[in-house]
Formats: sequence, C-alpha cells, structure tokens
Amino acid sequence: MSRLPRRPSGLPAEVSSLVGRGPEITAVLERLRTARTVTLTGPGGCGKTRLALRVAALAEARFGDGAQLVELAPLTDPALVPASVAQALGVSERDVPTPTAGLVHALAGRELLVVLRSSAWWAKGCGTTPSPSGCSLPPAPSRCT
Ligand SMILES: Nc1ncnc2c1ncn2[C@@H]1O[C@H](COP(=O)(O)OP(=O)(O)OP(=O)(O)O)[C@@H](O)[C@H]1O
Ligand SMILES: [Mg+2]
Repeated sequence: MSRLPRRPSGLPAEVSSLVGRGPEITAVLERLRTARTVTLTGPGGCGKTRLALRVAALAEARFGDGAQLVELAPLTDPALVPASVAQALGVSERDVPTPTAGLVHALAGRELLVVLRSSAWWAKGCGTTPSPSGCSLPPAPSRCT
C-alpha cells in the first residue's frame, strides 16, 4: 500500500517551554509502542493536550505517514466526528458511502499517528470508553496553568 504523501508535520509548533512531565512523556511514548489507542484523561487544563502533542512530536518519526492533530473539541454533534477526522486527514469523501468508510479505506495499511483533541461529552456521545491503555494525569504544577 502506498503511503500518504509525506507532508509537513500535522502538529502545531510549541510556542512556550514545556515544564516537567518527563515521567509521563516516557510512559506515554512507551505505551505507544504497543497500543493502537492511548487516552489521556485528567482535570480540565491539567495539560493533556500539551503532553499529547509533545509525545506525538517525539514519536512522529516512528510512523511512516507522520502525525496529525485533529481538533474535535469545537464539535457540537458526535455524529460529525468521522467527517471531521476525514476532513482533517485530507480524505476525499467522494465515491464513499460514509465518512467512516472513506477513513477506513484511506488509512488501511498506513502508519499515521492521529492526535484527537476531544472533550468528554463527545466520547460519551460516541459510546466510547477510555482505552485500557489510557493514562490519567495528575494536575500540572501550578506554574503551568
Ligand atoms: N507541562 C507544561 N508546561 C508548560 N505549560 C503547560 C504544561 N501543561 C500545560 N501547560 C499549559 O497549560 C494550558 C492548559 O494545558 P492543556 O490545554 O494541555 O490542558 P488540557 O488538560 O488539555 O485542558 P482541557 O481539559 O481544557 O482540554 C496550556 O496553555 C498549556 O500550554
Ligand atoms: Mg485539551
């Protein structure tokens, strides 16, 4: 299967220094070696997204098709999740019955690290549960917030 065209990183650049989180970075990097899904959970603002993006930047080279951030937090309807992911990954929805089918077809056999930036409500709405591979974060140092 041919790879998606190599393109610039699909991750945003970090615009400030990351404080701490060394053990969590190591743990999540290690988990990513074997788990297909890793879920970070923790209180609002504790640094889940920041950690995920740092880990993704460090792990990106392991994935033949790189890494891509997908913003799901602004969505108001869980039914829009597949189409939003498809759009963010540049998957054409033409000639496919559903966005999910398009995603499956386009990503089959490829190696892409997808960072889903979500919120609790849509996970519930999708009927998903936190992955057994998930990591729960304690609050970040107060100077981070
Ligand atoms: N380790 C850190 N070092 C420096 N800044 C941090 C760190 N962790 C988080 N921040 C900063 O704190 C703010 C909140 O972090 P972040 O958005 O990652 O939290 P979150 O847990 O994903 O929040 P939410 O639950 O709202 O999605 C951001 O401005 C982020 O850059
Ligand atoms: Mg977040």
